[in-house]
Amino acid sequence: MISIWQNIILRIMNKGQQLLKKAKKIIPGGNQLLSKRSELFLPGQWPAYYKKAKGCKVWDLNNKVYYDFAGMGVTACVLGYSNKEINDSLILGLKKGSMCTLNATEEVDLANELLKIHKWSGMAKFCKSGGEACMVAIRIARAFTNKNNIAFCGYHGWHDWYLATNMSNSKNLDQQLLPGLKTKGVSNSFKNSIKPFMYNDIKSLKKIFSKKNNNIGIIIMEPMRGVKPSGNFLKQVKSIAKKNNALLIFDEITSGFKDNYGGLHLKLKVNPDIAIFGKSIGNGYPISAIIGRKEIMQVAQDTFISSTMWTDRLGFIAANATLKKLKKHNVNRIISKYGKRIKKGWSEIAKKNDIKIVISGQDCIPYLRFDYKNSQEILTYFTQEMLKKGFLAGAQVATSYAYNNLIINKYLKEVNIVFCKIRKCLENGKFPLKGEIKHSTFKRLTG
Ligand SMILES: Cc1ncc(COP(=O)(O)O)c(C=O)c1O
Repeated sequence: MISIWQNIILRIMNKGQQLLKKAKKIIPGGNQLLSKRSELFLPGQWPAYYKKAKGCKVWDLNNKVYYDFAGMGVTACVLGYSNKEINDSLILGLKKGSMCTLNATEEVDLANELLKIHKWSGMAKFCKSGGEACMVAIRIARAFTNKNNIAFCGYHGWHDWYLATNMSNSKNLDQQLLPGLKTKGVSNSFKNSIKPFMYNDIKSLKKIFSKKNNNIGIIIMEPMRGVKPSGNFLKQVKSIAKKNNALLIFDEITSGFKDNYGGLHLKLKVNPDIAIFGKSIGNGYPISAIIGRKEIMQVAQDTFISSTMWTDRLGFIAANATLKKLKKHNVNRIISKYGKRIKKGWSEIAKKNDIKIVISGQDCIPYLRFDYKNSQEILTYFTQEMLKKGFLAGAQVATSYAYNNLIINKYLKEVNIVFCKIRKCLENGKFPLKGEIKHSTFKRLTG
């Protein structure tokens, strides 16, 4: 164990941690996204800020360079950071003006492409973030069904309609998200309007609908996160929705345009009434989309859903350029192959070092869990040691087109060295951490 003084010196030398300390005094929590907090990776040691990001490389404030095996921009940057083709399209857009009194033609191009891919849908709307897109979908669905209540599974952002589930039972989100999430500031009027069900547990959904006067008009869920749907789970969900005159919304903010071009529901062969996309569709530029059946989406005109910044040209340009490149280079197939390689590597290395791990997630978003009581401590140690070797690494990898087999081999070589150290630590019953154990992040459905 290193001394308190050594720890303080390490922090002083880490320019990112120094800036974070200042940031926490003027920005609540230090930043805008829970998943990017240093404490969720390596408290006190994580580089925290970047100077430059290119391909799958990241330069920190100390000019140290890392390969990003820790999510590639919270799974958004499927083509890699600062991609040349997208940059070129954006620079052209900037020069021609990114905001105007009139609308951008690229908005219509993006709607056309999304509707062409998803033949079941007839209209599209756009906004900027994932949570926002979920809010838009919920508003449209409520307006269409005239029913107030929602059944949900998984994570869908920070808005009131979602967090309200913890008002009727403060543990509702524990199995979907972070334990003990607080609802302070959420309107009390949403209490009892939203009920959780569990993935692959059709009984938990049936139970919600079996309650008299349930007034449920919406089922919102990811078609898949950590584990595959078992049997005909998704088809059963769809038939429950239909039978109860409820709309089925698939949230593909994270899953869309990764494993396959379009979204997982196309691969799983179950069409929703509404689908939501974000993150990858713009390779990290702010753009999200809501598509749905025409008669449903038309109802958006009977309510008020409108925002100045949703008309920004750059988000549409980024999305059109990203989709073009994903399709042209068959990127989804390639990144899935990379993910399979990583999963296989983890599995072989764990076996070789006699370490118990559980692997889950889509192939392109592999997820690793150390199957021990002190799993968070082991993971913190893993991140700490990988960082020394020049890798940003945690439990989740989001594969990118910027990877290649050589880079993945380098990563797996270091994983092997660190797993070997973990084996020794397990035997000694001690993990030499230089700081605190990481805080827990979203509790993944299988994680
Ligand atoms: C399935 C899903 N829905 C919604 C969101 C929220 O998106 P955002 O963080 O862009 O608001 C996320 C983000 O991780 C997500 O994975």
